[in-house]
Amino acid sequence: MSTDLASKLREGTKHSHTMAENTAFMKCFLKGIVEREPFRKLIANLYLVYSALEEQLQRYSTHPVVSLIYFPILNRKANLEKDLAYYYGENWREQISALEAGKVYVERINEVANTEPALLVAHAYVRYMGDLSGGQSLKKIIRSALDLPENEGTGLHEFEQLPSVEAIRAFKGKYRDALNALPVDDALAEKIIAEANYAFELNRNVVHELEADVKAAIGDHVFDLITRQDLPGSTERSPGNNAIRLVAAE
Ligand code: HEM
Repeated sequence: MSTDLASKLREGTKHSHTMAENTAFMKCFLKGIVEREPFRKLIANLYLVYSALEEQLQRYSTHPVVSLIYFPILNRKANLEKDLAYYYGENWREQISALEAGKVYVERINEVANTEPALLVAHAYVRYMGDLSGGQSLKKIIRSALDLPENEGTGLHEFEQLPSVEAIRAFKGKYRDALNALPVDDALAEKIIAEANYAFELNRNVVHELEADVKAAIGDHVFDLITRQDLPGSTERSPGNNAIRLVAAE
């Protein structure tokens, strides 16, 4: 069965994507402003999110829908553990905590896993395709803004088994093919798209909670200057056609 789910997801979430890019946090990022404290809190919360997501994907690794979109090479948990050891030190586990929005996000992943596991597809899509897309340009911004030593601090965006731009592009093609091959009917496809939009919202809520920290670090005036103008959305264009934004972002 082909539902063209890959294009439907892209189309059906493009407004959510544009809103994610237009959060104050991301606007600051795109201007090269990455403050260490809010950034490491984001990494900590994404660690909790990915831990839940990857545990649930593993739990459903023989499920007729979830199994087809489960690619362990995407797993982020181990890389995030390394990032946390870098940003917080070896006792990072005692130092990190969930933001309110982080807790809601984790609970939602566990809830859909328990009630309608096929919706895990939406959560996997939003995070992993994001990490493989805009995440790759964010990685360069983070490395230069925080002046990171080689091999430290951006494990979230490192895919050891996809070591080049071409390998990432090819894998994204494979991921879209897998989405298109899922045995889901139109009604379930619609639910997955709705859940993906909610996953974007959950991501926005996490970064919103960190904005006060960014503002405190850079001051109200600079914060307002940077965040008052909206940006065009990267997924409003056709897949792969991201030349303009990526150049602008680098
Ligand atoms: C400033 C921040 C961001 C930038 C610059 C950005 C940029 C991009 C670009 C250029 C693409 C298109 C890639 C392609 O066509 O191959 C893309 C795709 C995507 N991004 Fe983002 N992104 C950002 C934030 C986010 C966030 C916060 C999320 C979700 C948490 C996200 C999730 C996605 C997803 C799921 C796709 C795949 C769309 C598809 O082709 O189906 N992005 N992003």
